[in-house]
Amino acid sequence: METSDIRAEFPFFRKVKSECGQPIVYFDNAATSLKPKCVVDKVSQYYLETSANVHRGVHQLSESATREFEGTRTEIQSLLGANHAEEIVLTSGATHGLNLVALGWARQHLKSGDEILLTEMEHHANIVPWHLLQREKDIQLRFVPVQKDGTLDLSRLESLVSRNTRLASFVMTSNVLGTINPTREIISRLKAINPGIHIVLDGAQAAAHEKLDVCELGCSALTLSAHKMCGPTGVGALYLRQDFRDEFSPVMGGGDMINKVTLEGSTFAPFPSILEPGTPNIAGVIGFGEAIRFLKRVGFSTVQKQEQKLLEKTSQMLAEIKGLRLVGHNTHKSPVFSFEIEGAHSHDVATVLDKYGIAVRSGHHCAQPLMKALGVVSTARASLNFYNSEEEVDRFAEALIKTRELVQ
Ligand code: ALA
Repeated sequence: METSDIRAEFPFFRKVKSECGQPIVYFDNAATSLKPKCVVDKVSQYYLETSANVHRGVHQLSESATREFEGTRTEIQSLLGANHAEEIVLTSGATHGLNLVALGWARQHLKSGDEILLTEMEHHANIVPWHLLQREKDIQLRFVPVQKDGTLDLSRLESLVSRNTRLASFVMTSNVLGTINPTREIISRLKAINPGIHIVLDGAQAAAHEKLDVCELGCSALTLSAHKMCGPTGVGALYLRQDFRDEFSPVMGGGDMINKVTLEGSTFAPFPSILEPGTPNIAGVIGFGEAIRFLKRVGFSTVQKQEQKLLEKTSQMLAEIKGLRLVGHNTHKSPVFSFEIEGAHSHDVATVLDKYGIAVRSGHHCAQPLMKALGVVSTARASLNFYNSEEEVDRFAEALIKTRELVQ
């Protein structure tokens, strides 16, 4: 698909104008992606024409909702190359997935002295659940450091892992910097030292941009968020390899996760239902399935070709802007740019850019330890997606030059 054909699928580009009268240049895709019409139509079709609960009714509406809902599980299984649909737990997003690993597995299986390996590049969603677990368990967290160019210092990897490291969890692509970590190399080096280590991947930022294959990666778990993949908010998935999954305990109790309940006690449903209590975000899950079908239609090779073009053009244009400093920038990355403008706070930069119709995020991007490692308090962040255009990059660069003049 050509970029113009892809953009035609997003009503946003035709309909939404900024206060300055120009179309908005949406460069905040790492926060959440835009949604194509087919996804929104699918969600509203569920509410307007089905609106029934799943797994609970024998009437045709409930059966149709269940079929579509379970269809998404199969779409995710096929997207990730998982062996069984029952290895996919439907969640509220990547944060939920990581918390499930901490509460459903680590809380039961880690003992005093065990270690977890993380990196300084993690989103808070992959740090805070482990801090919470440390309140209950005497476990150690170790962190692979980040270098100034925004890559992990892998020369330290072997010294940070031991036979006590039960689990390593890290981000495949940084939401702040766009850095694409060498996931396969890291996994193989970790397993060479500790073959029994569980690898938990945060694929939230990676999944919309590359074809992932959990069997080839050899991970025990991988977490996703639909809203970063052109899907609805409040929905995600956690892949749990069967042997790892079988060690999980239920985290929350309620409907749909039980086998039998008496006043004396409960027995539980098989996986994945045991980890999915309560009425789920049915419309969101159905919309997620449509988003995956949309991404497949676009094709990951088109996504990557367009993103590489945008990466090269934007890198070059930003390098020419005096007073602008890219933070943690390297060449092997998604088109995500964290930057500072000399003498200005990132919120001021984002506010002025907004006046020119450019939407970027500013602040610490839910990654305060990464900010600290890079020696900054906050950055402005432009995150591009495959549906962005080169003309939008030109507008961004012009707006940045005017912004710099205003804020400095
Ligand atoms: N994790 C999201 C971001 O990077 C919200 O902005």
